[in-house]
Amino acid sequence: MKTDTVRQGGNVVTEKLDRKVALVTGGSRGIGAQVVRDLVDQGYLVFSVSRRPVGADDPLLRETGTSARFIVGDVTRKEDLDRVFEQIRETAGRLDVLVNNAGIMHGGGVETLSAEQWEETVAVNLNAPYRLIRRMLPLLKLSPGASIINMSSIGALAPGSSIAYSVSKAGLDMMTKYLAAELGSLGIRVNAVNPGLVDTKFHVHNHVLTEPEYEAFMEDAARGYPLGLGTERDVADLVLFLISDRARWITGSIHVIDGGRLVRR
Ligand SMILES: NC(=O)c1ccc[n+]([C@@H]2O[C@H](COP(=O)([O-])OP(=O)(O)OC[C@H]3O[C@@H](n4cnc5c(N)ncnc54)[C@H](OP(=O)(O)O)[C@@H]3O)[C@@H](O)[C@H]2O)c1
Repeated sequence: MKTDTVRQGGNVVTEKLDRKVALVTGGSRGIGAQVVRDLVDQGYLVFSVSRRPVGADDPLLRETGTSARFIVGDVTRKEDLDRVFEQIRETAGRLDVLVNNAGIMHGGGVETLSAEQWEETVAVNLNAPYRLIRRMLPLLKLSPGASIINMSSIGALAPGSSIAYSVSKAGLDMMTKYLAAELGSLGIRVNAVNPGLVDTKFHVHNHVLTEPEYEAFMEDAARGYPLGLGTERDVADLVLFLISDRARWITGSIHVIDGGRLVRR
């Protein structure tokens, strides 16, 4: 059986790797961090990649312990994806779950959003998932019943506040369908999760809104949600269901989770 060597307070601890292995991009905060927590709770060994390190005093580190490995890297950089691949290959030898969660937004339509902002958005939200899936495919093929989740948005289904964001997420939805058809015979399922507004301060992190603007924006937006705004917990629950055996016949599907936002009258 493959073993996994980790360091805890200077001591080398070797654990048996008979548990499942997941990679979550952008697992350092927000929706991705909740998915990491839940996977750890379910016994997974979880790798996560984000540009900034998780702070030493971040409760996420305490909550996940040695079951989560936070790697500093940028999903748009080939050498960083190669590094993540090598780390998972050496430690685990296979990958059971890949959650393409890292995402960014620049606000605006064709008259305000620059070509550079368009390219950066597409690079993170669309090109990086493609490159990462291609890179991880050899490890996913070694898992019996591997599953890929692409974190999309309701912005993929109706124009939102950013042309680049909506188009990149719409592309991610089609990538999901295409890959589900292509990889189904290998036993690899591919699904998209398309949340409505979740209070992660996504717009603040991406400098689309300032903190005070964000508060007002959320209050106003909530009126368009019959069930109110969502939480990271709501979205993570759907991810956990979709990667589970109970969803073994679900692939190529676009799963809207938005408290009724798209169907409101
Ligand atoms: N919040 C919402 O209302 C909402 C609604 C629909 C869909 N979504 C989607 O859900 C996903 C997560 O959103 P969130 O609200 O949790 O956002 P968030 O709190 O801003 O978290 C985004 C995560 O992605 C990471 N990230 C961003 N760019 C990256 C890059 N180039 N390389 C590696 N990691 C990168 C961030 O870490 P670093 O900055 O340190 O890299 C962070 O961990 C996104 O794909 C978003 O489009 C969110």
